[in-house]
Amino acid sequence: MPADTLREVAAGLVVLSYLGLCAATWRHHRARRSQAALANAALAPAAAADAPPVLVLHASQTGTAEQLAWQAAQALHTAGVPARLCSLSQLRAEDLRTAERALFVVSTYGEGDPPDAAAPFVRRVMAAQRPLALHHLHCGVLALGDSSYRHYCGYGRALDRWLRHCGAPMLFERIEVDQGDPAALQKWQHEVARIAGMSDLPEGLAADPFEPWRLVVRRHLNPGSQGGPCFHLEFKPTAGRSLGRWQSGDLVQLLPPGNASRPREYSIASLHADGRVHLLVRQQRHADGTLGVASGWLTDGLALGGEVALRVRAHRHFRLGDNAQRPLILIGNGTGLAGLRAHLKARAAAGTGAGPAWLVFGERQAAHDAYYRDEIDTWLASGVLERVDLVYSRDTPECGYVQDVLREQADLLRAWLARGAAIYVCGSRAGMASGVEAVLIAALGQDGVDALIEQGRLRRDVY
Ligand SMILES: Cc1cc2nc3c(=O)[nH]c(=O)nc-3n(C[C@H](O)[C@H](O)[C@H](O)COP(=O)(O)OP(=O)(O)OC[C@H]3O[C@@H](n4cnc5c(N)ncnc54)[C@H](O)[C@@H]3O)c2cc1C
Ligand SMILES: Cc1cc2nc3c(=O)[nH]c(=O)nc-3n(C[C@H](O)[C@H](O)[C@H](O)COP(=O)(O)O)c2cc1C
Repeated sequence: MPADTLREVAAGLVVLSYLGLCAATWRHHRARRSQAALANAALAPAAAADAPPVLVLHASQTGTAEQLAWQAAQALHTAGVPARLCSLSQLRAEDLRTAERALFVVSTYGEGDPPDAAAPFVRRVMAAQRPLALHHLHCGVLALGDSSYRHYCGYGRALDRWLRHCGAPMLFERIEVDQGDPAALQKWQHEVARIAGMSDLPEGLAADPFEPWRLVVRRHLNPGSQGGPCFHLEFKPTAGRSLGRWQSGDLVQLLPPGNASRPREYSIASLHADGRVHLLVRQQRHADGTLGVASGWLTDGLALGGEVALRVRAHRHFRLGDNAQRPLILIGNGTGLAGLRAHLKARAAAGTGAGPAWLVFGERQAAHDAYYRDEIDTWLASGVLERVDLVYSRDTPECGYVQDVLREQADLLRAWLARGAAIYVCGSRAGMASGVEAVLIAALGQDGVDALIEQGRLRRDVY
């Protein structure tokens, strides 16, 4: 076969395998690849390592952007184009000054905010008084989002504006992906293939399917509470279907009944080894007295034994990952105990090798809202928990909230961090998570908090 034809066949194979990888990404973005393996694979020297590598940068909360970035870096690498995969949390301004091409894959959270890991980059680099001069850096932006949020692709758009403001020429117009939209992902594949020096082939991409699961346990945990009713729920896959896989820190998405509803997310409160998905769900009630669509159905409308459409969603950023052996400071309120309970179960299952944990949990009334109290006592007795602070805001006027405990215990907090502890925050974004963040900044300084984020030692699952 002539050399040209051989090269074309090889190029075609690379493109095909890349498209296959992309399709697999969206369907199986929770595939269990460790971050270290991801980085190593993409950072291995490519065939033509003399050119400066294309930076493939990601800012991701639940791992989709990271996985797409990894696939792109891998495709470039396979095509002989050197690529360097890097989280925005690890990126220095200097890296941007010396590179020639950069692809950004970023998602959006909160009020159009970046994922947590990108917050130091935003503060240090994007918000710097003097904009960087990036006239030499050819950029492309893939913005992941969900158009049912008010600030659709807010961070991707802000990043795109900032890059243009810094004078960066664009390799292609920003691509926005609305809830995994296959057409937008195809455009992205096309652009990556072009940078890799290849033509591409169109292929549709499907989202993960929802599977039928059955509600097998529902327990009202806080009768008589001043707070909204809170329920412990357990689900099993329907007969013949597999449990799938998840790790502590992961989420489920549930499709409420009715066509117009988008999926709702819930933190998984159990381990795969439990054989069931446990959730801790607060029944929401609107001002007009109607119940929240999903929480009302799960806690009231759905009969025991009834089916739900559910899928497990990896939440890489909130997994234990590299923190599996570190001491853990677990901070949460209300239904935020769900994700923390999964981590404590993981710690209990791991045995004595892993570091100790400190739980700081807030609710309203000790008499009603002490969820999973027997388990917490058992973990305290067995040493899984070294310390527990339970704070009930309605019991006495001076009781306060979890952030007040942390403020009072700032010395202890610093001591745990000096022992290498990682912090996990789970529960309400407004009030709790913002209050905790303010206390951490007061105790450690903004640089100290940024350093924790960069080291992967400050993780949040807040909503
Ligand atoms: C990462 C994460 C983890 C979470 N973990 C938990 C948990 O462990 N326990 C828990 O109780 N809650 C958790 N939540 C909150 C949960 O996902 C729901 O928001 C909550 O149960 C209220 O949903 P609802 O349908 O009952 O209320 P609703 O008021 O019916 O809906 C909630 C919101 O969804 C939006 N919405 C409603 N209908 C539509 C529609 N048709 N189209 C588009 N948007 C719509 C609206 O913005 C509304 O404010 C979590 C949320 C996130 C993001
Ligand atoms: C709590 C929460 C808040 C979100 N906020 C926004 C938002 O404000 N704007 C938006 O476009 N998408 C928003 N999204 C959608 C995510 O950006 C989208 O699912 C993305 O694919 C996630 O990518 P990641 O896995 O890399 O983090 C939100 C998702 C969640 C769960």
